[in-house]
Formats: sequence, C-alpha cells, structure tokens
Amino acid sequence: HSLDKGDYRHYMLKEIYEQPQAITDTLAGKLADDHVFTSILGPDAEQQLHQIENIHIVACGTSYHAGLVARYWIEEQAGIACQVEVASEYRYRTVSVPANTLLVTISQSGETADTLAALRYAKKQNYLGTLAICNVAGSSLVREAGWRLLTQAGPEIGVASTKAFTTQLVALLWLTTALAQAKQRAPEIINANIRALRNLPGLVEQVLQLEPGIEQLAQSFASKHHALFLGRGPHYPVAMEGALKLKEISYIHAEAYAAGELKHGPLALVDEDMPVVSVAPSDSLLEKLKSNLEEVRARGGQLINFACERAGLETSEGVTHIDMPWVYDSVSPIVYTLPLQLLSYHVALVKGTDVDKPRNLAKSVTVE
Ligand code: G6P
Repeated sequence: HSLDKGDYRHYMLKEIYEQPQAITDTLAGKLADDHVFTSILGPDAEQQLHQIENIHIVACGTSYHAGLVARYWIEEQAGIACQVEVASEYRYRTVSVPANTLLVTISQSGETADTLAALRYAKKQNYLGTLAICNVAGSSLVREAGWRLLTQAGPEIGVASTKAFTTQLVALLWLTTALAQAKQRAPEIINANIRALRNLPGLVEQVLQLEPGIEQLAQSFASKHHALFLGRGPHYPVAMEGALKLKEISYIHAEAYAAGELKHGPLALVDEDMPVVSVAPSDSLLEKLKSNLEEVRARGGQLINFACERAGLETSEGVTHIDMPWVYDSVSPIVYTLPLQLLSYHVALVKGTDVDKPRNLAKSVTVE
C-alpha cells in the first residue's frame, strides 16, 4: 500500500485495484476451515457473543451503507435483530436499548466527529458492549470501544471511499459468521461464508477485468443530470452506495431506490434522459426485480443492468448489460459494488472533475 499513485492516474483507481489484496489482508488470521476466531475481537468476546440478542449499528456516509448491508446478513444468518442509523441522528435522540444489545460503530478513519460522539453516548447507556469496526488501529474510535475489528485496507487517500467500504463489508460478513457460530446456527451457514470469503479476492480480481466495458458505458452518462439506482435486498444499500459515489465525484444527481418502491414516486421521473442503473444478481428476488425493470422500459427509460450472467436478462433497444459472474449470495453485495465504483470513476473522468478531491467534501469529518 505505498503512498504514491504508481502507474495509476488517480488514487481512487489505485485503491479500486488494491481491493483483492485489502480483502486478503483483512481476512488474515480470522478464519479456520470450519470456524472463525472470535477471540480477536477482544477481552471475553468468546464468552459473551452468544448473549447478544440485538445489534445497533451507527456510522456515517459510506460506512453507514456498509451497516445497511450487514443488517440483511445479521438478521438472516445469525437471527439477531439489527438496526442501523446515521450517527448524526443517533447521538441526539433518546435511544431505547433492549437488554443484551451490542453497539457497533463503523468508520474508516475512526475520527469522524458524529460517530465518535455516538460511541461516547452509547457508553453511557446499558449496552452489553461496544465494538468498533475501523481501518485505523490507533484511532480514537478503536481506543474507546470495548471490542475492535480492524479492516486492513491500508491508507485510503481518495475522498470517495472504495477499498475501505469493501473491507468493511468483509469484516461485517465475518462478524455475522462469528455471531452465527456463537448462536449455534446451522454449520452450513458458517462453512459457506468461510468458503465464499476465501474465494472473494479471486472473484474481485475477475470483476475488475470488466473495466473496459464499463468505461465505454460511462460515455453515455456525461450529458445526464440525473440517475436512478435500483436494487433489492442487500443490493438496495449497494445501489445507495453506487448513487453516492456518482454524486460525490461526478456531481450528477443520483438517487437509489429499493426497486419495489419505484412505483411509489420515482417512476414519474423516468424518461430517456435519466439512466436507470440496476444491480441484478441471480438471487431469490430476481424475478421481482425483472418486473420492476420492465416498468422502467415501458416508460422509455434507458436501463443499465449489472446482471449475473445466469440471470437471463436480454439486451434490447435501450437496455445495456454488463455481465457479472455467478457468486455466492452472501458475498454478492461486495462483488456488485465494484462495477459501480468503476462506473462513477469513469463518468468523473469523462466530466473532468477532480476525482480524488471532489469539491466541498473532506476525507474525514472531524468537526461537527
Ligand atoms: C466523509 C468521507 C466519506 C466517509 C464518511 C465517514 O464523508 O468523505 O467517504 O464515508 O466521511 O467516514 P468514516 O471515516 O467515519 O468512515
């Protein structure tokens, strides 16, 4: 993780390409063949994990999106109720904390003012414990939390977060596996996650090779002022993160919607001037998503689908596909994040913006 750009034009692109290594590093020392090492979380974690009955996740920005993805995993795989909230809201309201709740903060920097304030507030409530998921070992957040789970993304310079986000997701899938293990859920869940996590760096490498096709597609965005991102299940927050990336670095207004909500508003905006990007893995919600996409086509919307090669979506007038490899369900949100990062990067290049330092934004927001 050297601090110069090397042969890359921007830090953001370099950091996108560092993801296979960052994921490998984040997983190092955490996985055995049929279980995960929960003691790495900190004192008494092994003894206390099974007591957790609720989880509150608090974070900002991209880290908040990682939390939203994790909620789907934690509730489904570990059977633990999970809420996710932005830190700037959480810290100023009266939070009701049920018995045996774990507070989880997620932060790349570990210095975000609102997230830190949220942790300090939480420490005065009756939480079972506090956990910081963070990329900086010596940060305030890590020092002040009871337990820690470090991502090993290395320094991230680009303001738009890329490798920090995917490694947060890796850490959160690992945490889900640790909780499933503590709760004695079916061993298949644990084994499948371990297998999927081990195969992930190779898969990410493979998806990065889609860059030339995505670069081509980016041309059509340059003249647009709005874009809509659609997803379902854990790919809804992936769509949110895709929209955030586009906003941050290309200054195109982008919004994400849970595909099922399309007809409750955004469908009114759909026309040939607003590209609609969909995240379409071949999961249990695919058929539902397909009918949402037909609604878009029927209104003349231009569709760009990042779709599993097995999804059976057909290219036609106004519909572009980028074929994605088939992936295990649990790691799918991580894999589908990559083409959206590359899309926003290439749209920003076409528009000629300052990719690594977008206007008005800071890498780390240490004051309120
Ligand atoms: C800023 C950055 C974002 C980041 C957010 C939270 O807005 O520009 O990329 O997601 O802060 O930062 P953190 O370090 O807490 O993850």
